[in-house]
Amino acid sequence: MTRRILVTSALPYANGPIHLGHLVEYIQTDIWVRFQKLRGNTCIYVCADDAHGTPIMLKARELGITPEALIERIGEEHRRDFSGFLIDFDNYYSTHSEENRFYSELIYTRLSEAGHISRRTIEQAYDPVERLFLPDRYIRGGCPRCGAEDQYGDSCEVCGATYAPTELSDARSVISGAAPVARESEHYFFRLNDFADLLKDWAGTGHLQPEVANKLAEWFGEGLREWDISRDAPYFGFRIPGTEDKFFYVWLDAPIGYMASFRNWCERTGTRFEDYWAPGSETELYHFIGKDIVYFHALFWPAMLHGAGFRMPTRVFAHGFLTVNGQKMSKSRGTFIMASSWLEHLNPEHLRYYLAAKLGGSVHDLDLNLDDFVHRVNADLVGKIVNLASRSASFINKRFAGQLAGTLVAADLHARFVERGGVIAEAYEEREYARAMREIMALADEANRYFDECKPWVLARDEAGLGQVQAICTLTLNLFRVLMLYLKPVLPEIAAAAERFLRCGPLTWENRAEPLLDQRIDPFTALAHRVDPAAVSALIEASRGTLAQAPAPAPAQEAGQE
Ligand code: MSP
Ligand code: ZN
Repeated sequence: MTRRILVTSALPYANGPIHLGHLVEYIQTDIWVRFQKLRGNTCIYVCADDAHGTPIMLKARELGITPEALIERIGEEHRRDFSGFLIDFDNYYSTHSEENRFYSELIYTRLSEAGHISRRTIEQAYDPVERLFLPDRYIRGGCPRCGAEDQYGDSCEVCGATYAPTELSDARSVISGAAPVARESEHYFFRLNDFADLLKDWAGTGHLQPEVANKLAEWFGEGLREWDISRDAPYFGFRIPGTEDKFFYVWLDAPIGYMASFRNWCERTGTRFEDYWAPGSETELYHFIGKDIVYFHALFWPAMLHGAGFRMPTRVFAHGFLTVNGQKMSKSRGTFIMASSWLEHLNPEHLRYYLAAKLGGSVHDLDLNLDDFVHRVNADLVGKIVNLASRSASFINKRFAGQLAGTLVAADLHARFVERGGVIAEAYEEREYARAMREIMALADEANRYFDECKPWVLARDEAGLGQVQAICTLTLNLFRVLMLYLKPVLPEIAAAAERFLRCGPLTWENRAEPLLDQRIDPFTALAHRVDPAAVSALIEASRGTLAQAPAPAPAQEAGQE
């Protein structure tokens, strides 16, 4: 039975460019979605820019443009970067949309009517010059523990202390430089604890990876606090219904952006929204996220959905963080690499392959080692896969005018390649791409061994051996064809080029057992080129200190992020 699946990746903030860290997530998700589609499932992949919040408002101010103009510009850059990396969204939208306003108000109103929203007055740091409340990250001052100067309002980069901004010595607003004053205002809170039992039950029943479920158990132990979902004007976001100057905190409407993007896709395609979001829906809903935003997706979001009368996610898939050459990405080392810089120097499918070869289904961090990257891509993609096609195709083209043999020799070998599709599919399904790539490369080794042992170049010296040469090369190309199908979720363009050169039509899981026989193929053109280590060096050089501004404040681990 074909499944109906809705998939999301986390929505990137609309205040900065896509970098290689982000790409881990979008590539991981895209591979999974492409795999599901190849299997014949209905799978819809939606995403959007996360367009609201203080950093975006301030960034626009700094650039002297409206937030709307800023998010428009960044949205275009994001789309360009994603399409450069062959991330094939069914819909890419923005949280600053009418659909998102609608669902944010609807969910809020339903939660409020059911008694899950409370209000109380809190005291916060306020910038008297700019006249706005200051998120912790916008206050700097001396660390109360070690005395280091110019530290963030929530933690010290020198000694690692965490504290409240009121504890800083000589605190200043990052925006105006003025000393913040304490000021009261009424805030709205989501009563997360109302859903404690529901969430405990949900978290314990296979919706999360084991490591993530353990983390939640810790959070349950600490008790679930109310979540502050309002911000005072000025704020770039949606106004809270029934208020004059209160806005939804960006993280309230961000996950609702998944729904809004899907809704927008429904309008365009005539799909019933309720089929996917009504409680008890038979469709599957998966969220791919980084491990830093688990709290939002495994606690707030399922609780909001349930409380507002929608279905909960089928599974939340968290991944780890990307390091480059074993360390955090760094501007000074030239390893804080933008998606667009990569595209100027290197091939996007090479990154897709390398990340696939490294990705498992866990939350472990993964490393892009650039020497290993060059070696891996050249050895596997060029040395094993492309080589297989080029060697066998060259005989077929030169000696047989492009004509394949009419029967399959070594049909048992071909059958085994087809049969391994079972375990490879399982690995993809479980997001164990590294395992899938190992399986595929082991098969490629076998295919190359077969070709080498048959020595077609020796047989071809003798007229009598030609029939065998055609048979061997036909079989090898058929093995290559099956391997190309298995790699298609990872390497969509190389696979498309292979489909053209083999004249075989779209490869699918379903048709993989049917061999290509007794037909012509096109002349072979190189499907992939070796990575030039000089291009990698040029990328590093170009990435050194490129970011004019510091990256946006990092998303905080839990609920406190602005
Ligand atoms: N806007 C929020 C997500 C809202 S989802 C309703 C956000 N944006 S982000 O731009 O900071 O990150 C987008 C995704 O990229 C997140 O899942 C995040 O974990 C992931 N990554 C950002 N940097 C990363 C690495 N260095 N490595 C791996 N993933 C990383 O969070
Ligand atoms: Zn300190």
